[in-house]
Amino acid sequence: MVVAAPDLKTAQQKRLTVTTEVIADDTTVIRSLDWDRDRFDIEFGLQNGTTYNSYLIRGEKVALVDTSHAKFRQLYLDTLKGLIDPAEIDYIVISHTEPDHSGLVKDVLALAPNATVVGAKVALAFLEDLVHQPFDRLQIKSGETVDLGNGHRLEFVNAPNLHWPDTIFTYDQQTSILYTCDAFGAHYCNEDTFDENLEALSPDFRFYYECLMAPNARSVLSAMKRMDKLGEIGTIATGHGPLLRHNLEELTGRYRRWSQEKSKSETIVGVFYVSDYGYSDRISQAIAKGITKTGVTVEMMNLRQADPQEVNELVGRAKGLLIGMPPSSGRGAEETQAAVSTILAAVKDKQTFGLFEAYGGDDEPIDTLQTKLSDLGLKSAFDPIRIKDTPGEVDYQRCEETGTDMGQGLAQAKKIKKIKSLDADLQKALGRISSGLYIITAAQGDVSSAMLASWISQASFQPLGFTVAIAKDRAIESLMQVGDTFVLNILEEGNHLDLMKHFLKRFPPGADRFAGVRTRPATNGSPILADSLAYLECEVASRMELSDHWLVYCTVDDGKVSKEESVTAVHHRKIGNYY
Ligand code: FEO
Repeated sequence: MVVAAPDLKTAQQKRLTVTTEVIADDTTVIRSLDWDRDRFDIEFGLQNGTTYNSYLIRGEKVALVDTSHAKFRQLYLDTLKGLIDPAEIDYIVISHTEPDHSGLVKDVLALAPNATVVGAKVALAFLEDLVHQPFDRLQIKSGETVDLGNGHRLEFVNAPNLHWPDTIFTYDQQTSILYTCDAFGAHYCNEDTFDENLEALSPDFRFYYECLMAPNARSVLSAMKRMDKLGEIGTIATGHGPLLRHNLEELTGRYRRWSQEKSKSETIVGVFYVSDYGYSDRISQAIAKGITKTGVTVEMMNLRQADPQEVNELVGRAKGLLIGMPPSSGRGAEETQAAVSTILAAVKDKQTFGLFEAYGGDDEPIDTLQTKLSDLGLKSAFDPIRIKDTPGEVDYQRCEETGTDMGQGLAQAKKIKKIKSLDADLQKALGRISSGLYIITAAQGDVSSAMLASWISQASFQPLGFTVAIAKDRAIESLMQVGDTFVLNILEEGNHLDLMKHFLKRFPPGADRFAGVRTRPATNGSPILADSLAYLECEVASRMELSDHWLVYCTVDDGKVSKEESVTAVHHRKIGNYY
């Protein structure tokens, strides 16, 4: 049975609701539904809101697995009180301390003062900063258990980096439910508690993986190895979006496949950040996402908990290093500075590096580290990123594009080698496939992008639709997720060179692609190029993954031709193994 609490509108008139449902013996999910959560609010490119899932397990003892976001305070606590007298809660399991799951732990503790907080060592340390009061605690490791009685024996699995270093999974042997918090989740808000509609869920499931999990692909595979040793898993109870039950094998299979793919490159960038310091987590994640788009493997390491041997080992293997500046004083400063010293001692010349500040308020001086690394013979991939205020979508876009540039630089030698190895006759023959010339333009909020495109082909009459192939490392790819809108500008033969030259330029990360170009906004908000022959207003309907491109199928809502007598510019190539 699903029980829904009344709607609540926040000051910004966003719709928030809470539902509960019994999902197994003695087990109830409390889903906080955040219908209109903004893009870039938590993850980049949020389209369909999100949910925060919390679970109540009632054996002889009672456990609450995670809570909710603070914005649900009243709704969540009222709902919880409707299910149980919170004073009866014996354990509060903290899967992960990011405030979207732990934002109400302090409130629950006030109602359940005798509850023991269960979590990984790191989680308990983070939680102290969140609740600012003493609490009973139980620090657990992989394989350890808590017996709630009535068969509900909870077994814990360390799953660091999914998505913070503090993450644990919890497996209930009685119900075969695995509680995974961020892992296997999706920012997808609808009435369905479970994953009935695979087709509808798939694009968000994938995009969430790309944003949060791809930079931690090796950690995903390690966690999945540990999962394989548990008993049968009948349900994955996620922290966001629908719970996986109907398509569990398919969706976990995708995680395995994607993570194997993401971690197979021998070109590795070690990303060193400082969790819970300024916006270091998010900035590093945005840059890492940009790097993974180029096929380069990312391994993330939190400087707060970094084991010197592991730091040493990662620096030794990595071709590139990305370092978020640690604090120069305060909690954990000594450890993080020591970790940076370990990095400096382990670096090799010819490695590439990039540095960023994350608005932590008390950063180690970035220029000093920049100079030290340069003096040691390392090559700077980009000018240090200095975030001087709360980062917004433009900052995250710049960070992602910086990461892509860094990844492209590292992957270039291999790419050239691959291209050279192709058969000359074959590449010439393939080059005889010709196509039109187009500029794709997209704008969402404060973010915009554009790309010269030629691999475009009409694909359907009803609805009117076409496909476009977009290289995975294109900046605009992030703005072409299912449901996103854009404009296809069709270039005019004889009047295309200026636009073509402009958009062929290599733009620095975050640069305005439209500076000096005449545009007007389309109904969907994306720019129409005034000098194009025709334009189409489009929406992404689906995406198919290919080896190095996304094949994006789009439907067309509107369009116009400016000069009836003109024809489309055509692109004739000499070889088929490049554009
Ligand atoms: Fe959903 Fe990393 O918090």
